[in-house]
Amino acid sequence: HAQDNTFKIGMILPMTGQSASTGRQIEAAARLYMAQHGDTVAGKKVQLIVKDDTGLPDVTKRIAQEMVVNDKVNVLAGFGLTPLALAVAPIATQSKTPEIVMAAATSSITQASPYIVRSSFTLPQAAVAMGDWAPKNGIKSVVTLVADYGPGNDAEKFFSERFELNGGKVIEKLRVPLRNPDFAPFLQKVRDAKPDALFVFVPSGAGAAVMKQFLERGMDKAGIKLIGTGDVTDDDQLNDMGDGALGVVTSHHYSTAHPSALNKKFVADFQAANKNMRPNFMAVGGYDGMRIIYEALKTTKGQGGGDALLAAMKGQVFESPRGPVLIDAQTRDITQDIYLRKVEKKDGQLWNVEFDVIKSVKDPGKSK
Ligand code: DHB
Repeated sequence: HAQDNTFKIGMILPMTGQSASTGRQIEAAARLYMAQHGDTVAGKKVQLIVKDDTGLPDVTKRIAQEMVVNDKVNVLAGFGLTPLALAVAPIATQSKTPEIVMAAATSSITQASPYIVRSSFTLPQAAVAMGDWAPKNGIKSVVTLVADYGPGNDAEKFFSERFELNGGKVIEKLRVPLRNPDFAPFLQKVRDAKPDALFVFVPSGAGAAVMKQFLERGMDKAGIKLIGTGDVTDDDQLNDMGDGALGVVTSHHYSTAHPSALNKKFVADFQAANKNMRPNFMAVGGYDGMRIIYEALKTTKGQGGGDALLAAMKGQVFESPRGPVLIDAQTRDITQDIYLRKVEKKDGQLWNVEFDVIKSVKDPGKSK
């Protein structure tokens, strides 16, 4: 690892392709964190190296290998999709390099390497809250529609189990391909099944397409509500979805509209530095991931290798723009509050307005 006085963060993100907004959000948040906190920590000059994996796991893996072997990075960070985070897990383990997962959200990721620490969220965390809320609010039958890979499978399973435990009925479970999905034939099936609601998980960046087709097919007018985890009403795209999105209820760990003083400052600073772009939940994962790295560097006084840094990441407790969080020392996963939110219009803009909170939610996927 870096012999000299630099501390290198190797950040691998999808900067192009279907998940480019995830990369754009996380890089902007990481740069904001550094602008606010300086680039000298415990006597080390922090260097952020950002590389584009285009969303392909083979590319992520090759870049990670180069960063560890050639650049001698002290930590690996980023990882915009589950397969990208998993592709690097063996490299993290073998080289004893902490891998900070700032976006990907399949529950099992943290079990793929003891060097993985997560600053994003898990789909079970978000989906269980909706499985409790929906049946108490007049939704008795549901069709689920999820992207067909890790986080979609988690969302489907954990929402459905909790919803049915509460007396609801899942009529049908539909899965769409992750790459270039065409939602039209799936939505036609949903229309025919006529559930009280459609529960959706699609990754960040795909929500606007779902919303557009949902409205174009008149699903709302046919009396079918749209619910889901907050990925579908992504703050990065929400304003472009139009008034058809009003009233959509989702469960998630972060809203740009979260009313804390810390979040208001985060949003204002982020927008000032990024031509008014709204920070979404990906930005918060990147920002908090940088916090975890900076504090570990401070605790180890700039002298720690991978194992010492990892130990200093476990158990961190802090206030995030999303609310209070803890890095669980056993699982290296993030414990956080989960909010129920409804899309509302304020000052001419659409927001995910939080109306209820479940405090201190540990990943429900870990106890299974
Ligand atoms: C994942 C990606 C996303 O964009 C998201 O919103 C949730 C999960 C993932 O691949 O893990």
